[in-house]
Amino acid sequence: MAQAALKARSYRLVEEVETEVIVGPGAVRVLSEKLGGRDGAFIVYDRGVPRQLLDAVKAYVGASTRVLGYLAGRGEGVKDLGWVKRLWEALLSSGATRGSVIVAVGGGALLDAAGFAASTYMRGLDLASIPTTSLAMMDAAVGGKTAVNLGGFKNVVGTYHHPRMVVADVKVLRELPHRVFLQGLAEAVKHAALESKARLVWLESGSREVLERDVEALTRLVDWSLSFKMSVVERDYREGGWRRVLNLGHTVGHALESASGFTLPHGEAVAMGLSVEAELSVDIAGLSPGEAEDLRATLRSYGLPTEPPKDLLAKAAGALRADKKRVGDKIVMPLLEAIGKPVLVEVGVGELESWLKSKASS
Ligand SMILES: NC(=O)c1ccc[n+]([C@@H]2O[C@H](COP(=O)([O-])OP(=O)(O)OC[C@H]3O[C@@H](n4cnc5c(N)ncnc54)[C@H](O)[C@@H]3O)[C@@H](O)[C@H]2O)c1
Ligand SMILES: [Zn+2]
Repeated sequence: MAQAALKARSYRLVEEVETEVIVGPGAVRVLSEKLGGRDGAFIVYDRGVPRQLLDAVKAYVGASTRVLGYLAGRGEGVKDLGWVKRLWEALLSSGATRGSVIVAVGGGALLDAAGFAASTYMRGLDLASIPTTSLAMMDAAVGGKTAVNLGGFKNVVGTYHHPRMVVADVKVLRELPHRVFLQGLAEAVKHAALESKARLVWLESGSREVLERDVEALTRLVDWSLSFKMSVVERDYREGGWRRVLNLGHTVGHALESASGFTLPHGEAVAMGLSVEAELSVDIAGLSPGEAEDLRATLRSYGLPTEPPKDLLAKAAGALRADKKRVGDKIVMPLLEAIGKPVLVEVGVGELESWLKSKASS
């Protein structure tokens, strides 16, 4: 008997997502006019955030809509399903609906966890992000990745959920301890290396003002860094392809971080990762030695490290197999053909291990 014809169709589903990004000193005042019409706002914040900023956020949000409740947490500890469950429960008992908004005030960790809760509570409600560290302002606040840690592994559980609004009040960066402030700058250097030679020159020439935390210089830097990241994310918002260039410096960077038992801060690990991957780019992707040196000089102009200790590098070689980007024996990693010209290269894990080991013993 002839088989019945199958009916097959495929559907292309396009998600309409818009993120508004507002950057500058005193930017949180926009919250007083941006949340009108919402069914209330639930505020979550990191306990490290200065009181003054938090009070301003509360007042502006309260002027715009009903404040449903608050939940606080601190640093990486919030990226835990236990904390997220507390947030879900608090949202439920506060009467939050799909028309409400979560206003998240904190560093990358708090934004990751609040974003995860926002994307899952009632299958998704809006998120307004107020980044308060340099890493969150330069990088983590946009792009829509949300995450919690599981079983001692970072970012194992997560979703994509773009914030409706990102409000970066750069004045808060003036208060950050120096070493915390440094961490976001490595991501800015990464963005410049991906964008163009001229941008790298621009970044290096502005390093003094940025390190003095001049408010205008910080506004320019954060505004550009976020808009560069968004220009990449717009092309590929779920990391199917091109977005992977944002992992520049992160293959070696993550391996160094994990080899250090996570005592090495992320930005410093990425700075060393960028420097080592620039050398690899010279060896296998056509980057000129002069341009690799330009990248290192820009890192140094911000006081970022470029030379990983040899013993850590040797240990990092052994940590490559744990990379989330590994598929079988290969890792697809971005390298530079030139400054401003990233390429995605498939590299054998074994070869990369030996290359790092030889560098560590040279
Ligand atoms: N979603 C993404 O695309 C993305 C990108 C990069 C990093 N991340 C994640 O971001 C996290 C790191 O972010 P982070 O570097 O902002 O760290 P963090 O959020 O852990 O904050 C660092 C410390 O600073 C404190 N803090 C926050 N704001 C402060 C302020 N204004 N003044 C003083 N102290 C303050 C916090 O209490 C914490 O102890 C990691 O969990 C990482 O996985 C996510
Ligand atoms: Zn990073």
